[in-house]
Amino acid sequence: MEEVGRIYGDVGLGQFHLTLQTPVERGDYLTVNDESHGEVLCQLDDLRRKSDLDLERADQLGRGADTPIHESLLGLARIIGYRDVQGLVRVPTLPFRPGAQVYRAEEPLIAKVLGLNHHSASGAYVGLLRNHNLRVELDINQLVQRHVSVLAKTGGGKSYLLGVLIEELLRHKVTCVIIDPHGEYGSLRQASESNGAHARFNVEVQGFASRIHEYSPDTSLNETAKPLTFSLRTLDPRELLTFMGLSNVKTFLAPLKKLLEEVGAVNPDYTVKDLVRAADRGEGPTLEVLHERLDYVEATQLLGPKGTSLNELVHKGEATLVNLRGVAPDIQEIVVTKIASTLFDNRKKGKIPPLFLVVEEAHNFAPQQGVVTCSRILKNIASEGRKFGLGLCVVTQRAARIDKSVLSQCTTQLILQVTNPLDLKAIAQSIEGLTEGMTEMIQALPVGVALVTGGGYHTPLFCEIRPRATRHGGESVRIVEN
Ligand SMILES: Nc1ncnc2c1ncn2[C@@H]1O[C@H](COP(=O)(O)OP(=O)(O)O)[C@@H](O)[C@H]1O
Ligand SMILES: [Mg+2]
Repeated sequence: MEEVGRIYGDVGLGQFHLTLQTPVERGDYLTVNDESHGEVLCQLDDLRRKSDLDLERADQLGRGADTPIHESLLGLARIIGYRDVQGLVRVPTLPFRPGAQVYRAEEPLIAKVLGLNHHSASGAYVGLLRNHNLRVELDINQLVQRHVSVLAKTGGGKSYLLGVLIEELLRHKVTCVIIDPHGEYGSLRQASESNGAHARFNVEVQGFASRIHEYSPDTSLNETAKPLTFSLRTLDPRELLTFMGLSNVKTFLAPLKKLLEEVGAVNPDYTVKDLVRAADRGEGPTLEVLHERLDYVEATQLLGPKGTSLNELVHKGEATLVNLRGVAPDIQEIVVTKIASTLFDNRKKGKIPPLFLVVEEAHNFAPQQGVVTCSRILKNIASEGRKFGLGLCVVTQRAARIDKSVLSQCTTQLILQVTNPLDLKAIAQSIEGLTEGMTEMIQALPVGVALVTGGGYHTPLFCEIRPRATRHGGESVRIVEN
């Protein structure tokens, strides 16, 4: 084993200081041999170069004087623990001795303590432990039962990572519904071009064309999608008000009900057009508003006589994309509300298989501030979905702007680079066991490296995300060719 340094100073139960003879990177795994428990896994949380150079001598140095500098490299390490005879991770109950040798941890110990050695039947392979050849596999049952968040700044690699996750869910035949505001996930149909990274990560390129179903309210723009419509007759009047963008139930519910009864009495197979005509015939300011809003709903073509059925939308073991590219924000909200509540209701009744609902740009659909139509159902799913086998995955570049109760329900968090201080604060508040050192590291993560918390692991770990088996659809548009 390679010795890297020695413990010095006061030694705590959770962390200790060490002098370093060999440069070690922040986040690297170390080990100390404990008298009673053998090798204990630790992680370097912080690094500092200490010197005897004071201000005065630094000044002299600046003026060309030759002055010797004594310096040492110091580290702060966090104790992760060891596996006891029952296989549980424990930390020693007595602090290590000052002067004890610290070694670079070898892979078998890292794998054993972190629980990385499994190549399990229910594991979603998302990448390799950073700087090691150890697979990071998230427990799929945990993902679906305990919710997931994917957090990073724009361009941080959220959509890429989500693509990796969906590939894994498809491989394991987990049913998924993906709210796709930018139409990025249709590329899951196509295999990626194979390169060196695929070999290094042991990933075979593959497309999922036959297992992707795509729907959109706007099929003229999104040509690969089938039309997504809702059935007018299965909507209750309150839901129809939501489609009409009218939140004032007190004023509009009764007149709308009356209108529906009148039109339904004449023709049970009425359409939105029939409602528009009937509202137009009526008089008074309320009916005028109803007429104007019904006219708007008519133009969206969201409400058809039949509507997209649940059987068309949800396919067992396959993925459905709800492509909202080019769709107005208010319509997006209505679509998400209706789909999320239909999935939740039918999951409760056991009419559809357990499934994973992915919401991209989730800060728009469940914001911390302001009211949007779909907030309530997403909050319900976050707090109660697990009881009914409805997993939620929220993806956002604004951790501070997404509803805190939703974020705190996500037991697995996949965090890529985040630099905004408010977002970092929100993340730190929602994750247990995130050290200051890790929070600092999140700000400097290179593209393709994620901090994984939860997912079946008891300690946060840095993971180099594996390459996509399918093509990534979220490439940024090139304004200038180089
Ligand atoms: N793990 C990765 N490996 C290689 N390239 C990546 C990886 N993650 C992201 N990228 C690249 O970075 C860019 C931004 O990623 P993307 O997932 O679209 O960001 P976001 O959704 O967070 O805005 C993409 O062009 C993608 O090709
Ligand atoms: Mg994205």
